[in-house]
Amino acid sequence: MAATKSLFDTYRLGDIILANRIVMAPLTRNRAGADLVPSPLAVEYYRQRATAGLIITEATQISATAQGYQDTPGLFTQAQIEGWRKITDAVHGAGGHIFVQLWHVGRVSLRSLQPDGAAPLAPSALRANTKTYANNSFAEVDEPRALTLDEIPGIVDDFRQASANAILAGFDGVEIHGANGYLIDQFLRDGANKRTDAYGGSIENRTRFLKEVLQAVIGEIGAARTGLRLSPVTPANDVTDSDPQALFSHVMDVVESLHPVYVHMIEGATGGPRDIVPDFDFEALRARYSGAWMVNNGYDKAMAEEVVAAGKADLVAFGKAFISSPDAVERLRRGVAFNELDRDHLYGGGAKGYTDYPTLENAGA
Ligand SMILES: Cc1cc2nc3c(=O)[nH]c(=O)nc-3n(C[C@H](O)[C@H](O)[C@H](O)COP(=O)(O)O)c2cc1C
Repeated sequence: MAATKSLFDTYRLGDIILANRIVMAPLTRNRAGADLVPSPLAVEYYRQRATAGLIITEATQISATAQGYQDTPGLFTQAQIEGWRKITDAVHGAGGHIFVQLWHVGRVSLRSLQPDGAAPLAPSALRANTKTYANNSFAEVDEPRALTLDEIPGIVDDFRQASANAILAGFDGVEIHGANGYLIDQFLRDGANKRTDAYGGSIENRTRFLKEVLQAVIGEIGAARTGLRLSPVTPANDVTDSDPQALFSHVMDVVESLHPVYVHMIEGATGGPRDIVPDFDFEALRARYSGAWMVNNGYDKAMAEEVVAAGKADLVAFGKAFISSPDAVERLRRGVAFNELDRDHLYGGGAKGYTDYPTLENAGA
């Protein structure tokens, strides 16, 4: 019988060995500098958190049209690549590993954030009932325009190019953001996708965009460096689906056939109730895929230890814990509480609520 697995054991993910099974979840902080280049403060922020087995960066734009929030970083210009290189060097220098989350927001955007003030892009011209963060406050998103059939390959190629840029920037891999009601999730769900061409209608058609993005990214940088985040039942950003169990069963079959190195599953409503759809069967999804299974949403130490020991997950991602506690791994190890979250400084600003959280060590514990 195999020894019981622990959260604090190493884990082989593709070609890299993670120091433990604790992952820093992707966390948008709206602190990028001019031209959406990550700031020097971000270098310090990620370096402080490098004891995570794996860091997944904040969501990062693949192109100019991919942006939906103010001051979120990109990975489509030389300056952005060079900015990220400082971060990957810092994390690697501290013994950590880091993937970048590749993001296109689709309809969760404002004209004021789009090139030439154009309408945001989406599978269908349906405005989401959701807000975004711009001009230092929250605002209702604008009505999008539907992508034409001949524009779709260009967006797929932006994902491919961004993955190539990620390797140039020194990342260990990328996480494709297929979750939380952004562009890929908008294609998947029948509440947001009303297309009548090859990208809409049947479950197979709605999964086509994700499939093409996975193929393009895996073709560029390899399956061992490609992860995927999904959130089958989240209502985030106003996405709905008539049959998420059937949809995501098919998604997992496509994922298994292309075999990215991990699937990162948000269980429940992102940042909210885990049981928002009580009869949804996540274990059935996992049974269709043989790669690394990363879980997230509302985990504490006891829950995380239990799922890893039981073999129900290989990796556990923590979000808010890593905002407030750069040494979240050490706190989990010792069973010490995380620092309190400074909710007033999550989005935007400087060092306050970003790089100034104490560790046990510098608090003298
Ligand atoms: C401030 C903040 C920013 C977030 N930004 C992202 C993001 O960029 N990409 C993403 O996929 N999820 C994002 N999330 C969701 C988290 O990754 C995670 O799913 C959520 O916080 C639940 O995990 P937790 O209970 O451990 O905090 C964000 C959450 C918070 C609180």
